[in-house]
Amino acid sequence: MAQIKNIGLFTSGGDAPGMNAAIRAVVRTALFHNVNIIGIKRGFEGMINGEFSPMDRRSVSNIIQRGGTILKTARSEQFRHAEGRRKAHEQLMSHNVHALIAIGGDGTFRGTKTFGDEYDMPIIGLPGTIDNDLTGTDFTLGYDTAINTVINAVDKIRDTAESHDRLFIVEVMGKDSGMIAVRTGIAAGAETILIPESKSSLPKLFDRIENGRKDKTSRIVIVAEGEGEEGGAFEVGRRVKEKFPHLDTRVSILGHIQRGGKPTCMDRVVASRLGVAAVEGLLEGKRGVMAGLVEDEVVYTPFENAVKRNMQIDPNIIRIIEMLSL
Ligand code: F6P
Repeated sequence: MAQIKNIGLFTSGGDAPGMNAAIRAVVRTALFHNVNIIGIKRGFEGMINGEFSPMDRRSVSNIIQRGGTILKTARSEQFRHAEGRRKAHEQLMSHNVHALIAIGGDGTFRGTKTFGDEYDMPIIGLPGTIDNDLTGTDFTLGYDTAINTVINAVDKIRDTAESHDRLFIVEVMGKDSGMIAVRTGIAAGAETILIPESKSSLPKLFDRIENGRKDKTSRIVIVAEGEGEEGGAFEVGRRVKEKFPHLDTRVSILGHIQRGGKPTCMDRVVASRLGVAAVEGLLEGKRGVMAGLVEDEVVYTPFENAVKRNMQIDPNIIRIIEMLSL
């Protein structure tokens, strides 16, 4: 394969703290290896619309500490269709871009897999999503920042819950994944967590309230946004209020604050290491893979395996949360 000269770089799907640190690492590593980076704005949408601009050393100055993504991001409907992908390919060719680095999550990698196969294009992905729901990396960019944002918020909720002797149902993000709930449930000392991966948790919560310690002054229940069977936090709150009218129950949805803010040290380090791995992987001839960190080592996982929904949540975690909140 001819030496890669121009790499297109974009962020796609939900933004995540650490994306900017990864952009910086990609640009600086490429320059180190005498390769050009062409920034593509708004993910696949910008690729289709020709939003390309070359990036230099200074265009990534002073961004390692910033949340969001300077390249902006989008969820593209057009790219799901062959015609959209054809337009994107045409734009890439006219800008002389023959390889790509994509920073995003599950939806992004489904798109890059299809596109890379269709147009025989070398593409490496970087896991950028607060959800931590990809296989092939222990941590996705943004997850550590998001869970720290959640526990800061829940600690504040705990203050008011304790003052009013209330039960709070707190909804965290993760439309098909309980990974945010799992860690924050432990760290915030939650009563229990309700997540899409574990069925029938509401009856268990009822049982804990009915038969558990009666002298509790406050209770925090963490519900993942996508909590399937029992509905979201409002539905859980409604059912708790109905069954336990004597409890003073409130619902709090943390929402998009979880996606913003300065990335933690860990997110910046993971982003920097994986940004280097993406560029160097492409130059070594790797393609169709996501660069991740498993047990602190860089590994490259084929897109089709990275996106597979085979994330397992250790059932022991819920036992730990419940045991420790006795
Ligand atoms: O994928 C990241 C994520 O924040 C999910 O946790 C959440 O369900 C979704 O994005 C929300 O997306 P949007 O901001 O497009 O509503």
